Amino acid sequence: MKTAVTAYPIQESISKRWSPRSFAQQPVDPETLNQVFEAASWAPSAMNEQPWRYIYAHKSDQESFQKMVDCLLPGNQPWAKNAPVLILALAKTHYDNGTPNGAALHDLGMANANLITEATALGLHGHFMGGFDQAKTRELFELPESLQPVVIIALGYIGEAEQLEEPFLSREKAPRQRKHHADIAFRNQLPN
Ligand SMILES: Cc1cc2nc3c(=O)[nH]c(=O)nc-3n(C[C@H](O)[C@H](O)[C@H](O)COP(=O)(O)O)c2cc1C
Repeated sequence: MKTAVTAYPIQESISKRWSPRSFAQQPVDPETLNQVFEAASWAPSAMNEQPWRYIYAHKSDQESFQKMVDCLLPGNQPWAKNAPVLILALAKTHYDNGTPNGAALHDLGMANANLITEATALGLHGHFMGGFDQAKTRELFELPESLQPVVIIALGYIGEAEQLEEPFLSREKAPRQRKHHADIAFRNQLPN
């Protein structure tokens, strides 16, 4: 486990979240997955537009799961194909009247944060991936213009690190690093 070593105590569902590449074969129960999407749906959003959409595939959904794997870039495919669930997260970039929703990506991120926090509380781990082919994803999943594919999420129960090959094994074991909170949050004004 790579639980965060924090300067202040924080919620366990935040400190225990990290992005593994090794997943156990155990499938994710559909009801458990619904619970994770329920959490996502309760994120705040501009105008309560709820611009998040998800397409997901269990490994047993062989055809769509393989399509999802095919959309990933080569650096993600070797390990992500072993996750029991792959989730494509999409942002609805415009309001229904055609006006751009400048908060769409922000709000999808809020929903994704809820999703992964709930998943962590349920003993799951997830790994977000921006490394996928957008054009191919649009084509394979017949996405309308109004939806922008933003990340693919590998979700499941954590597996033994040793089932990974290099370079993924070393990455799985590498310590996690963060900027200090004092380097990201400033009282009253930015530092000179
Ligand atoms: C939008 C986004 C895109 C990411 N893309 C990839 C990716 O394509 N491949 C990958 O291995 N990790 C990817 N990551 C995972 C990050 O590398 C990881 O979250 C970061 O190194 C911090 O590690 P932690 O999640 O274990 O705390 C992505 C994360 C986010 C949020």
